[in-house]
Amino acid sequence: MMGGDGPNSYAQNSEYQKQLLVSAEDLIHDLIHEHLDTENPTFNNSNSTIRIADFGCSVGPNAFFAVDNIISAVEDKYKSNQNHPEFQVFFNDLIDNDFNTLFRNLPTSRKYFASGSPGSFYGRLFPKATLHFAHCSTALHWLSRIPVEVTEKNSIAWNKGRVHYSGAGKEVKEAYSSQYKEDFETFLSARADELVDGGLMVLVILGFPDGALLCESSIGLTFDMLGSCFQEMAKMGKISEEKVDSFNLPFYYPSPSELKAMIEANGLFNIVRIAKLASPMRAKPDPQILTSHLKAVIGVLVEEHFGNGMMIEELFRLQFEKMVESPVLFDGKLWKEANYFVFLKRNARSGSPQQKFQKSKRKTKSSHIMR
Ligand SMILES: C[S@@+](CC[C@H](N)C(=O)[O-])C[C@H]1O[C@@H](n2cnc3c(N)ncnc32)[C@H](O)[C@@H]1O
Repeated sequence: MMGGDGPNSYAQNSEYQKQLLVSAEDLIHDLIHEHLDTENPTFNNSNSTIRIADFGCSVGPNAFFAVDNIISAVEDKYKSNQNHPEFQVFFNDLIDNDFNTLFRNLPTSRKYFASGSPGSFYGRLFPKATLHFAHCSTALHWLSRIPVEVTEKNSIAWNKGRVHYSGAGKEVKEAYSSQYKEDFETFLSARADELVDGGLMVLVILGFPDGALLCESSIGLTFDMLGSCFQEMAKMGKISEEKVDSFNLPFYYPSPSELKAMIEANGLFNIVRIAKLASPMRAKPDPQILTSHLKAVIGVLVEEHFGNGMMIEELFRLQFEKMVESPVLFDGKLWKEANYFVFLKRNARSGSPQQKFQKSKRKTKSSHIMR
């Protein structure tokens, strides 16, 4: 992500992601109310601290919005409880994220103790059973790496001349999807280790409806355009063709049935809800805004791959010109991406106090029914 808070920064180009958090706001509130069990020993003790982690937080301000929403829902839930918890919030992102901007912009009136937790979320970041709430929004489409097969000349999945699996052969799509499966499983297992029994997790995932074709969508066509901009620059001798062929975007967009199958296969969470979120409004698609957004998200990847000499301004100027001419921006039929809201509850570990507590709760309930 482009750091800082200048005109090209993520902070100034993340309204789409913000709108997704707004669509998820009420759902989060209602589901916390229904599923956070304040009697559960892991949530109810005399000096309870509720620990929340936002995975893939970037530089704010969206992360602050998400965290405030979770805290307000938890506070509501504890209203009638004797114990009023304190909150500790961990902001996670990759080590080269601009944490300075994030911390500089922390809300002064916050109700939590804030910390940074640098590192990949495709691995453990917290001690066992210490988190109560995990949140991750519009970050899980980032793969941990580009599948090796797509960059190898001798592989049938070599993705020559493209920057993504959009429009590529089925082998390329399969390589991306198996990398996603591996990454998502690693993410779920790491979070399952870190969450307390009964701990909650919200994921907002950029995805694609079952059966929809990425190459017939605005995202897919945007990536195709980007690929052709690279090709043009290579033809003009501004970058090497070899470098273009080895550049691929590390994004995968899963369908809801893929998500459900992966969570079930992992088996450590109960699926409370998977729902499609309302799509952010695109009433006036603006080529300049879309290009700036793309630049804020992938500019850093381009720079990393091509080196500092890469004419990044020229690349995105070409992209802008193509976007102006393209129907992608104006044809609502092409807006096929969908955003999924996933609400999970950590299953109780076998033999844990939480499992005993749940069993005793079930017993009390059934003895009431029998009476
Ligand atoms: C599109 S931004 C979303 C930021 C924020 N959650 C929001 O809703 O605006 C995706 C973020 O995920 C981060 N990210 C990607 N892969 C990651 C990983 N493996 N571990 C931690 N963060 C990661 C990126 O660095 C980026 O800051």
